[in-house]
Amino acid sequence: MKGVILAGGEGARLFPSTKVTNKHLLPVFNRPMIHYPIDTLKRSGIREILIVTGADHAGDFMALLGSGSDFGVSFTYRIQDGSGGIAQALSLAEDFAGKEPIAVILSDNIFEDDFLEEVHYFKEGAKIFVKKVEDASRFGVVEMDEDGTVKSLEEKPSIPKSDFAQTGFYLYDSSVFDFIRMLEPSKRGELEITDVNDIYLQKGQLKASEVPGMWVDAGTHESLLEASILAQEAFDPDKIRARRPHLADIRFSQHVPKVTVGILTHDSEKYIEPCLTSLLGQDYENIEIVVLDNNSADHTIDLIEEQFKDVQIIESLENLGFARSHNEILRNTESDFYACVNADMIFEPNFISELLKSIEQKPIYGSSGGKIKRWDFESFSKGLKGTREMGKTNFLDSVGLRILKSHRFEDIGQGEVDCGQFDSPREVFGISGAAVMYRRKALEDTAFVNEEGEKEYFDESMFMYKEDVDLAYRLQWAGWKCHYIPQAVSYHDRTATSLGRKPLDILRNRSKKPKAINRLSYLNHQILLEKNFSEDFSTKVRGATFWYNFKVFLYLLVFETELLSEWWRFFRMRSQISERKRAMPRRVSKAEIEKFMES
Ligand code: G1P
Repeated sequence: MKGVILAGGEGARLFPSTKVTNKHLLPVFNRPMIHYPIDTLKRSGIREILIVTGADHAGDFMALLGSGSDFGVSFTYRIQDGSGGIAQALSLAEDFAGKEPIAVILSDNIFEDDFLEEVHYFKEGAKIFVKKVEDASRFGVVEMDEDGTVKSLEEKPSIPKSDFAQTGFYLYDSSVFDFIRMLEPSKRGELEITDVNDIYLQKGQLKASEVPGMWVDAGTHESLLEASILAQEAFDPDKIRARRPHLADIRFSQHVPKVTVGILTHDSEKYIEPCLTSLLGQDYENIEIVVLDNNSADHTIDLIEEQFKDVQIIESLENLGFARSHNEILRNTESDFYACVNADMIFEPNFISELLKSIEQKPIYGSSGGKIKRWDFESFSKGLKGTREMGKTNFLDSVGLRILKSHRFEDIGQGEVDCGQFDSPREVFGISGAAVMYRRKALEDTAFVNEEGEKEYFDESMFMYKEDVDLAYRLQWAGWKCHYIPQAVSYHDRTATSLGRKPLDILRNRSKKPKAINRLSYLNHQILLEKNFSEDFSTKVRGATFWYNFKVFLYLLVFETELLSEWWRFFRMRSQISERKRAMPRRVSKAEIEKFMES
């Protein structure tokens, strides 16, 4: 969504401070007033911002703010001739808004909160934000019934019907511009924003919600002083860090983190269009999408080149496997975060921004993942609609990786119906490589240099399968935590599914999978154990791991003897594996690792 900052007006109530300058350029604590609404929009995920101001000081605004690159946003400027009121200023945003909904903020409004969720989920009508105040007659007053439904709106009434003031943050759909055209000037000769909201109210399209945090309209001498005191209190970096750590970095750094999204394709023609469309529709902007194609014989590459010009392609003439392919992308890109995603998936528009919000909560978070649900690709591709829009189902595919004492690894929630049982964020052992975001710093920290002198992030000796588990394990040993956030939702067309833990289930699951997968999976499990297993683990863990491995060995001896040849491969690789094991940073105790291990 785009945003509009209304920074016009004469600032008469702040005279004489506003005699030679615009009110919104006056300082509030340590910054010009207009920095605060820019911040509010930015924290709400908005990057394209129109600033409307009067002709007298427009040059000062441009000199102060520039193009927006210092703030990680882009500014457009419009001039409001004369002082026709807030709604008249907003009418100048019509072209800028196009047919999209728009967020509007008055430049003298200082909010502690952001409006990230509200902006994201807003679709139609109008939404206002209210706050209980002592001097309601200074504001637009909102009368509401007990369940928060708006009953009436009145601009600066002498006898207010409630204590709720309408703050200066609004969300509108594109009919707002038609409604402004219907307005008559008020008694004070202005087009009032309250009258715009009243039209939405009469049409039954106005919603209101209360802002929880601090809010000040800094339009008078007293409130300007109050704003400075509260801003010092509320926006003190240390205090914010203590209160809401994930906001501190966003608020105080001008740096907008860059995310590389890496996707691997191999004859992925049928999947690539929905996948890339959902990635290009992300609400986070600083993203580069890189596809590494592993020698597709179908039209995957042509399709991308024709339809997705912004997507970078790396072509490989052989199938490099999962680990090496992602490493190639990582070696060829520079960014703060790496989102490793499968091509047979689609992503909700806030997928990347939510993962980013999650991983940025603590510098110690090395990876983060969301709720992966099942994608019924077949009904989607056959155009079957109904409740399962786009083939999105309510079955879970993975909400994180779980490690058992026996060193079996499982996708948490797999096959379960999503009824909110995984709706709280939490730390997990790892995230499935199907859709995970890594912090580059963590990848660099745990990477090792291979025999050819190249950096390996995923272990290339594992070709494919379980390399995500191995990386999750190595990140844990190095002290990088992994965070699960349910708000980042994606859908995965997983064909091979493992259900149940009983011996018969395991037999059934194994027989469903192609031999090559079982082969790689077995070999990689041994590599993973060799690197990550510690002789210092408790007797329970050592016992369970030995017993499970032994049972698998016996099973192979009887049913899949040919897989035992993987042991030769493993022994031949042993010195290489040991070298990799030696290079692994181990900063946490075995107890830290064991606390994730379930029975
Ligand atoms: C404007 C609006 C008013 C709203 C206030 C919030 O008033 O007209 O409805 O409550 O902003 O800051 P102003 O401060 O421009 O007089």
